[in-house]
Amino acid sequence: MARITYDDQTAAAFKAVREVPRDGLEAWREAVRRHLRPSPRMTVVDIGAGTGAFSAAFSDWFGLSMLAVEPSAAMRAQIPRRPGIQVLEGHASALTLPDGSADGAWLSLVIQHIPDLEAAACEIRRVLRPGAPVLIRGGFSGRTDTTHTFPWEFFPETARTVNTFPSVEQACQAFATAGFRRVALEQVPETLTSLAEFLAQADTFRRADTTMRGLTEEEFLRGKERLRRAAQDAERTHSPEPRTNWLDLLVLR
Ligand SMILES: C[S@@+](CC[C@H](N)C(=O)[O-])C[C@H]1O[C@@H](n2cnc3c(N)ncnc32)[C@H](O)[C@@H]1O
Repeated sequence: MARITYDDQTAAAFKAVREVPRDGLEAWREAVRRHLRPSPRMTVVDIGAGTGAFSAAFSDWFGLSMLAVEPSAAMRAQIPRRPGIQVLEGHASALTLPDGSADGAWLSLVIQHIPDLEAAACEIRRVLRPGAPVLIRGGFSGRTDTTHTFPWEFFPETARTVNTFPSVEQACQAFATAGFRRVALEQVPETLTSLAEFLAQADTFRRADTTMRGLTEEEFLRGKERLRRAAQDAERTHSPEPRTNWLDLLVLR
């Protein structure tokens, strides 16, 4: 059971405002290249693929065969149907793939939704070839000070929800039960929209973001006001530069 329901409305909102523009993902492309060492013969399972933004990126960047596994029918409906991406119904603890069929697993903004991380780790171990990496992108409990993200800057109370996510240690422990060991933890930047665009998208963003959904109405309005003032300042000083988000990348093998 995910923390929020990924229904048609949420899926449309996610597609509209949560996908990071491709040209903002350069640092992720390099980080994935370093840890996955991709080659076009490889198959990678994108677990909780959502609207398929990363499946499409991995396919375009590296020519990989992507298995986009996603439990929500509404999110699956948004995944581009094209060569190089196979869309599958399933979830982290039931991947419906043969044993040893993938050369890597990618989980982006997903582990907080997985009810039994040990069961998921065991299932991921089953479908991965020996030595294949698991790449986990997201926020972890206790790290909101160092992984500085765009919404948290204006809506600091979103940290309350992030601090209920698994910590790095909990994630590593769960994956250790399936024989995985932590090989890297790094913070990776991504470039998002300008403040003015974020302000215009704030209500839609809230519908599609677990941490923003956890805000009270008052906290949301207060954050929106901070954002409005910052956007006005940026316009006054002619500095409508794009904003940088930092998220963690945890790699296990
Ligand atoms: C925040 S979205 C992230 C989507 C995509 N990975 C991305 O980064 O753009 C979380 C996704 O995880 C999916 N999800 C929820 N519970 C899951 C589970 N137990 N196993 C796999 N995916 C799950 C949701 O349906 C949703 O599409």
